[in-house]
Amino acid sequence: MNRPIKIAPSLLAADFAHLADEVRRVEKAGCDLLHIDVMDGHFVPNITVGPFIVKAIRGLTRLPLDVHLMIERPERYIQSFTEAGADHITFHAEACYGNLHECVEIVHSLHVTCGISLKPNTPLSRIEDHLKDLNLVLLMTVNPGFGGQKFMPEVLDKVRNLRSKFDGDIQVDGGINKDTAREAIKAGANVLVAGSAIFARADTEQAIRDLRPKK
Ligand code: DX5
Ligand code: ZN
Repeated sequence: MNRPIKIAPSLLAADFAHLADEVRRVEKAGCDLLHIDVMDGHFVPNITVGPFIVKAIRGLTRLPLDVHLMIERPERYIQSFTEAGADHITFHAEACYGNLHECVEIVHSLHVTCGISLKPNTPLSRIEDHLKDLNLVLLMTVNPGFGGQKFMPEVLDKVRNLRSKFDGDIQVDGGINKDTAREAIKAGANVLVAGSAIFARADTEQAIRDLRPKK
């Protein structure tokens, strides 16, 4: 089945001093989702935003808010982020300490869609039992924590393998540009997160178009 390709600009690369303008810029340029990276300084070495900022962004746009939680024990915060306006929650399998199923159930109980993410070195076997309960799997194509890193092509095998057994959305995140986007789509990914490849370009519309497959 050919799933539609969706482009999700990662706000991490936006100019936070002008957040409202940046959100409007990508919305106007025709993106499909807004990807918000939440980092806690524990699961990853960086710290970014909490529910307060998600709520502020919710007031600025109708775009679906795709919240990527890079935080330890995400079950503590899932509800705050959905109350703030998240439409989709992705958390990391490595951050759940044996209660992956409970985290999935919390997300579904709040009536938003659910994704699990894996770091580049974490095998698919970690989530195979849960695939039937997931709307999306995010396969990180860099080690999470920072924007502007180089795409890891070794993750493409994992994308292909996952596509052979999973019918939901497969998202890739990290180092996505027009070349790596093409590779990821060929391997079976259909939701592309891109920070620098979108926000660093003056022609935002063209930047988004460049990530979509050529007709
Ligand atoms: C990294 C974040 C990404 C990041 C991607 O931990 O999850 O969403 O912003 O940035 P680029 O596209 O610049 O690699
Ligand atoms: Zn992300």
